[in-house]
Amino acid sequence: MEHILLRDLDIPDIRNFDVYVANGGYEGLKKAVREHTPEEVIKIVLESNLRGRGGAGFPTGRKWSFIPKDAPIKYVVVNADESEPGTFKDRQILEKNPHQLIEGAMIAAYAIQATAVYIYCRGEFWDLAHALEEEIEAARQANLVGEDVLSSGWNCPVYVHLGAGAYICGEESALLNSLQGLLGQPRVRPPFPAQPGGGLYYAPTVVNNVETLANVPWIIQNGAAAYKAIGTPESSGVKIFCLSGHIARPGNYELPFGITFRELIFEHGGGIPDGKKLKAILPSGASGPVLPATDEVLDAPLTYESVAALGSTLGSASFILMDEDTDMVWAAAKMTHFFKHESCGKCTPCREGTYWLERIYRRLLRGDGTMRDLELLKSIPRNMQGGVTLCALGEFAANPVLSTVQHFYAEYEEYVRRAEASREARQAAEQMHDYTLGEAGELPEAVGQGGVW
Ligand SMILES: Cc1cc2nc3c(=O)[nH]c(=O)nc-3n(C[C@H](O)[C@H](O)[C@H](O)COP(=O)(O)O)c2cc1C
Ligand code: SF4
Repeated sequence: MEHILLRDLDIPDIRNFDVYVANGGYEGLKKAVREHTPEEVIKIVLESNLRGRGGAGFPTGRKWSFIPKDAPIKYVVVNADESEPGTFKDRQILEKNPHQLIEGAMIAAYAIQATAVYIYCRGEFWDLAHALEEEIEAARQANLVGEDVLSSGWNCPVYVHLGAGAYICGEESALLNSLQGLLGQPRVRPPFPAQPGGGLYYAPTVVNNVETLANVPWIIQNGAAAYKAIGTPESSGVKIFCLSGHIARPGNYELPFGITFRELIFEHGGGIPDGKKLKAILPSGASGPVLPATDEVLDAPLTYESVAALGSTLGSASFILMDEDTDMVWAAAKMTHFFKHESCGKCTPCREGTYWLERIYRRLLRGDGTMRDLELLKSIPRNMQGGVTLCALGEFAANPVLSTVQHFYAEYEEYVRRAEASREARQAAEQMHDYTLGEAGELPEAVGQGGVW
């Protein structure tokens, strides 16, 4: 299959401006600006059924259509914060094929007639951000970015901004705050980013993921129908699936929506190493519910709808595979620690919930857990769900706990059973200690009466 997104696998050095142009690069932007009105570009993207690849799967064309046409200042912000555990797809695009992202972002900017584009990179991408600036300069010199783009009279510079390494800054409203120089915490919505007062510097703003935008040049060049013909009617096009954990061939795989879990993991990923059995799957990094590797799951198609029907989310499609030896309580504890560390602390259910969940896991793992702890692992996360928090991180943090309790409860019970057994042994030893020394350290009465001594 010819790649739409991971073109670096087919064309060496496509990251280089000249190589990109020699292989049809920026033809999508030229076509958009020279042959289509901004409204037509939005219509094409809407009809292609492209959905956001940052996690929520929101229709991209619809998002662009929300931007008020008469707003004097409008922005496109590229979300390159990529911090979800197990997600490393945007990095490959940024590193190996940056012009496709720049071109896609410029087409989005043309569609909403943006004043500027900002690319927000996670702090650890400092080397990529530097290289990206050089590529933007090459595009600017070719009149594809900046002033009077393609002699159309439209000005649109592209800037790169580095975050400081916080997972929460991938959440779009926290990202906008961080970009503005404010504390990287989510905003109260409405207003949403596309609305006046809700976006960057409070101007209407489109926030899109790197992978989402990298699809756009192909869609403009080949048409909405061609893109929609790939994948399934509800989940159209291609997706980059990231495979990591217990998998023979970890990496990024660009495939059409609709292939099954089994095809992805066993055909493309090469299966589970050392002949072990697959036990559990995280289809969307740490933030989505874990799925047990049953035949029902493995034979299900990879679409937004079918993964939701299984009780999880496709999210950014970062698959972490866990083999039969994985301790699911330990795995949930690791994810809980991550969310507790990354919670921005702005809302009580998330700040307190992640704190208390982590304490319970510590208790379980050091062999002090009780059945009461298992009840708390069911009730605390439920109080973090249902839209009671400002952003989805609170819900994300509840997912690994509730799903492992649901599917792997026996492992939790085993922790408690072992803890109870060791408590009983300890008590027995203590009694024996008291018995042998007596309360004041004297010999017990039993000695003189022919007792155990
Ligand atoms: C805690 C949290 C972290 C997020 N991290 C990212 C991220 O790293 N990259 C990303 O594109 N979207 C991330 N999102 C989703 C964004 O808020 C937003 O939905 C996305 O950038 C929209 O782009 P799209 O429509 O192209 O998917 C995150 C959301 C939450 C709640
Ligand atoms: S849910 Fe958590 S991360 Fe999101 S705003 Fe509230 S405290 Fe911050």
